[in-house]
Amino acid sequence: MGMKESITRATNLLEFNIDDCSLKEFTTSYFHSSTTKCSKAHKLSSHAERQILDILESNMKPLYLDSKVKWSLDQKRDEMTFHNMRFLVCAERSSNQIVGFSTFMFDEEDGEAVLYLYELQVRGKNRKQGIATHLMSLVEDIALTTGMSHVVLTVFLKNTVAMSMYVKRGYKPHYPDRGIYCDEIMSRSCQ
Ligand SMILES: CC(C)(COP(=O)(O)OP(=O)(O)OC[C@H]1O[C@@H](n2cnc3c(N)ncnc32)[C@H](O)[C@@H]1OP(=O)(O)O)[C@@H](O)C(=O)NCCC(=O)NCCS
Repeated sequence: MGMKESITRATNLLEFNIDDCSLKEFTTSYFHSSTTKCSKAHKLSSHAERQILDILESNMKPLYLDSKVKWSLDQKRDEMTFHNMRFLVCAERSSNQIVGFSTFMFDEEDGEAVLYLYELQVRGKNRKQGIATHLMSLVEDIALTTGMSHVVLTVFLKNTVAMSMYVKRGYKPHYPDRGIYCDEIMSRSCQ
């Protein structure tokens, strides 16, 4: 199968399973106190969207302000509503409050079909409970199951917490000769 076909197939596959799925086809992972759902942006309730944007702003604005990259919540909101963007949303069972989420798209990177992770965010008070680990495992399972060659993501060099997690999970610079920037493009092979 060609690269473009792989991307379209993966996007459609997730679209097909997405509306009411709990990702059973993709994972055997189970996270005891929360549910994780996969959805498209327009399927999110406005309440969920508000929580997601609040988490995003409180987590990322300080990191952007500390970098050379301009912070824009409007740009983030636009990015999240790209037609092919997918969300994994992890919410507390008891309160339905969102504790973490990730967003990703199937795309082309350097001539290969990849899963590009756009966001990985955990609410401040829910950190260090394994939520990011859970979301990363799901994302990596999805990439493997859909035949992607890599999971690719971008991380600020100053974001040492996230960087150490990615390194621990086996992520390496995708373009080792890219030069010095405030961020790094990291990837992990699905093989
Ligand atoms: C980075 C982030 C997603 C981690 O979420 P989390 O749910 O707390 O992470 P987990 O509990 O699953 O821990 C995963 C790993 O992250 C690293 N980590 C998490 N918190 C850490 C801390 N305070 N200091 C150092 N490493 C830390 C560790 O490697 C940890 O693995 P371990 O538990 O085996 O030591 C979270 O801190 C966050 O949302 N930060 C702000 C947003 C962000 O930076 N997103 C990534 C953008 S690229």
